[in-house]
Amino acid sequence: MKVFIVGASGYIGGAIADRLVGQGHEVVGLARSAKAAEALGGKGVRAYLGEVGDIERWIDRAVEADAVVFAWRAFDLDTFRETDTTAVRAVLARLAGSEKAFLYVTGSLGTGDTGSATEVDVDTPDDPPVFLAWRSALEAEIRRSSQAGVRSVVVRAPMVYGRASGFIAESLLADVSTSGRVHHVGDGDNLLAFVHVDDLAELCVRAVRTAPAGALYLATNGESLSYRDFAVRASHALGAGGAVASLPLQAALAAMGPFAEALTYSQRLSGAAAGRELGWSPAMHGIDTELRLIKG
Ligand SMILES: NC(=O)c1ccc[n+]([C@@H]2O[C@H](COP(=O)([O-])OP(=O)(O)OC[C@H]3O[C@@H](n4cnc5c(N)ncnc54)[C@H](OP(=O)(O)O)[C@@H]3O)[C@@H](O)[C@H]2O)c1
Repeated sequence: MKVFIVGASGYIGGAIADRLVGQGHEVVGLARSAKAAEALGGKGVRAYLGEVGDIERWIDRAVEADAVVFAWRAFDLDTFRETDTTAVRAVLARLAGSEKAFLYVTGSLGTGDTGSATEVDVDTPDDPPVFLAWRSALEAEIRRSSQAGVRSVVVRAPMVYGRASGFIAESLLADVSTSGRVHHVGDGDNLLAFVHVDDLAELCVRAVRTAPAGALYLATNGESLSYRDFAVRASHALGAGGAVASLPLQAALAAMGPFAEALTYSQRLSGAAAGRELGWSPAMHGIDTELRLIKG
């Protein structure tokens, strides 16, 4: 199988690329710099130079593959919304009638604040935070493209850890080195859900190979910790002696933008749909082992 990945040099896209290459598939990755292209080449991924926003440059390469994977992001939310929506729609239009796979990797926030009482899977209605309503709508549009002959699949991930890198590792290390403690947003009573990046990659590869058109999966390892408990464990593991502090929501919003609100959500998620339909089950180590690995 030949797979074109947008975001192949990133944390999650990179893990998906590694998995595909490891299973003998041909992978082409969009790279926006010579540095990214070189890194991709070093791990057996053929780089194709281009910016996501310069769609005409790369779209022919993408749609000639057997599958297209979107696992990218831009840090500016307005840029990301505009570029992502335009690029996704362009690719889906070109794939219409082909029955080829289109996989979109996204966050689990579309599932909303689930509360702490019940574990939810893919059959719960979307309830995204306002700043991500566009993404939830785009995900629905992607799934509906199954009616136009695209084998489209959406995979939602909560907090992604693993390889002692990525957002969790970087933000915890920065927090401990600047403040000597680990902060949680608000009271920290909300429940966090997790998935290891290599388990997520395995789910994505299975989805690309065999998921039914229009499918949605939640990638979660089943661990559920309150944000405060997570912060305490991280603080011990990273040598801050268990010291934690609350960052009030207003201060968090000022420091990190609307994403801070999402850090007050409870997410009790189930990956049962992925288990049932794709035979997927998480096999990698849990969050406590990861916290020790981050410390090194
Ligand atoms: N990380 C998490 O905890 C997490 C959790 C849930 C969902 N997600 C979702 O998963 C997706 C991937 O996240 P990630 O953490 O893997 O992101 P990441 O590590 O920041 O990687 C972003 C990727 O996008 C590429 N990129 C950015 N702007 C580009 C542009 N203009 N043209 C071409 N490529 C561009 C980057 O290329 P360079 O290498 O050149 O920078 C990189 O390959 C996102 O949609 C995110 O919402 C992430």
